[in-house]
Formats: sequence, C-alpha cells, structure tokens
Amino acid sequence: MEFFPKIETRNLNLYYGSFSALKNINIKIPPKEITAIIGPSGCGKSTLLRCFNRMNDLIENVKITGEVIIDNKNIFDKNVNLLNLRRNVGMVFQRPNVFDASVYYNLTFGIKIHRLMRNKNKINDAIQMSLEGVGLWNDLKDKLKKNARYLPLEQQQRLCIARVIILNPKIILLDEPCSTLDPIATLKIEELLKKLKEDYTIIIVTHNMQQAARISGWSGFMLLGELIEFNRTKIIFTNPTDSRTEDYITGRFG
Ligand SMILES: Nc1ncnc2c1ncn2[C@@H]1O[C@H](COP(=O)(O)OP(=O)(O)OP(=O)(O)O)[C@@H](O)[C@H]1O
Ligand SMILES: [Mg+2]
Repeated sequence: MEFFPKIETRNLNLYYGSFSALKNINIKIPPKEITAIIGPSGCGKSTLLRCFNRMNDLIENVKITGEVIIDNKNIFDKNVNLLNLRRNVGMVFQRPNVFDASVYYNLTFGIKIHRLMRNKNKINDAIQMSLEGVGLWNDLKDKLKKNARYLPLEQQQRLCIARVIILNPKIILLDEPCSTLDPIATLKIEELLKKLKEDYTIIIVTHNMQQAARISGWSGFMLLGELIEFNRTKIIFTNPTDSRTEDYITGRFG
C-alpha cells in the first residue's frame, strides 16, 4: 500500500450475542480518498462502518475484539473520549435524519453539544462555510429559519452532511446515503462527495456498484462478515483477485 492509513483495523471481530458479524477484518483506509464498502445484504458493511466511530457501543450484547487505529490510537482504549471521536468521525445515514426544527437549529445543535463556539458571528460564519461546503448556501441563506423537514430530500441529505462538516471532522462515514434519492439527486450528492474528498477521508457503504465505480478510489468487498478483497476500485472492478469478488461484481449473486 502506498499510503499511510487514516484508519486501520487489526484483527477486528464483532459478535452480536453469539453471532459473528465481523471476522478478523484487517483494512487500511487511505486518507483523503473515497473508499467504498460493497457486498450483499447482511454481509456486515454497516456493522464495519459503525466500528469506525464506535456507534456499535449503543447496541446491546455487542462484543468487539481487535483494534481500530485512527491517528496512531486504538479507539477502543479506555481513555478515548467518545464525544471527540464522533466529532472527528462523523456519520451520515440512509434516510436524511434532519431534526424537526429549523435549518439553523440543525446546524448549531452539534456546536452546542461540543461547546465549540459561542460567539454569534463565528457561529454564523461556520453556518455559511458548512452550507457553502455542501452547495446549499445560495438556496438556504434566506431560509435558515425554515423547518428542515420541508426541504427536498436531496437538500435534507446535504444538510446532514453540512451538520457533520460544521464540526470540522477528519473522516466522514456514509451508509447508503443515496438510497432514498432519485438518480439526479444521487449524481449531485456524488459530485459533492468527490469535492469533499479533497478535505476529508470518506467511507461510503453502497449497494450500487455503478456508484462505487463512479466515485471511489478504493473498494472493499465483504461477504458473510469477511473482507474478501480490498484494492483500488479500478482493480476490484476489472481484475479482482478473488473469484467471489468477480462473481459479485458481475452480478452472479447479491
Ligand atoms: N443489532 C443487531 N443484533 C443482531 N444481529 C445484527 C444486528 N445488526 C446486524 N445484525 C446482523 O449482522 C449481520 C450484518 O449486518 P449489517 O447490517 O452490518 O449488514 P449490511 O451489510 O449493512 O446489510 P445491508 O446491505 O442489508 O444493510 C446481519 O446478519 C445482521 O442480521
Ligand atoms: Mg447496512
């Protein structure tokens, strides 16, 4: 590998009760790239993604062994501050989960939780920067008081991304962020992600292999809790090493 990984897992295993959902995952995520996690339903993509900011901690009966190293630190160490971790490693979900409140409230919620700033002008600058970052400033600058639930879905999803980047993270996790969007909205979000990768390390779980091929530089193929293959997306899609990867990307199952 020709990069210093932004995230590295070492022998990562995860169990839901006695069910082994992640089996000895060793992956190195490149910095400032888009990495796609692909594989059939139930193979553990979301579970793996949730390991990167310890969202699985919220689920009962989960047992995790192994390490997830971010910036030379195992995020499962006892002295890790979870709030800081989740600020550094932001997450965007399948359905735009905006709060039933104003655009302004949606964007400032995290700032309050993390006690990042109190100065009104600074907060307004941060709002402008984050909305510009997701291409929404012109649309929303006069609608900051509008309830976010009434925005078009694509704008809601952009707002969810803005809500993450206003906290100045290093890593953005997205779990099938386009699955509720139409094709045109999907392409717009993809364009946004391609731009954001200049500043952030992005990991996207997707069912849509064309999407993975269009936007990601690296791809990991998972099957039944295992990481079968990880490589440059070009190679995964044209010349995979494992026959199971080939079967999946040529549509023989999944
Ligand atoms: N909270 C949970 N308790 C028990 N089992 C779970 C839990 N969450 C997920 N699983 C199981 O773990 C396995 C991996 O689930 P996961 O949601 O990570 O898969 P996925 O690849 O994201 O699937 P999909 O493409 O359908 O979203 C599945 O067999 C699933 O049923
Ligand atoms: Mg999933």
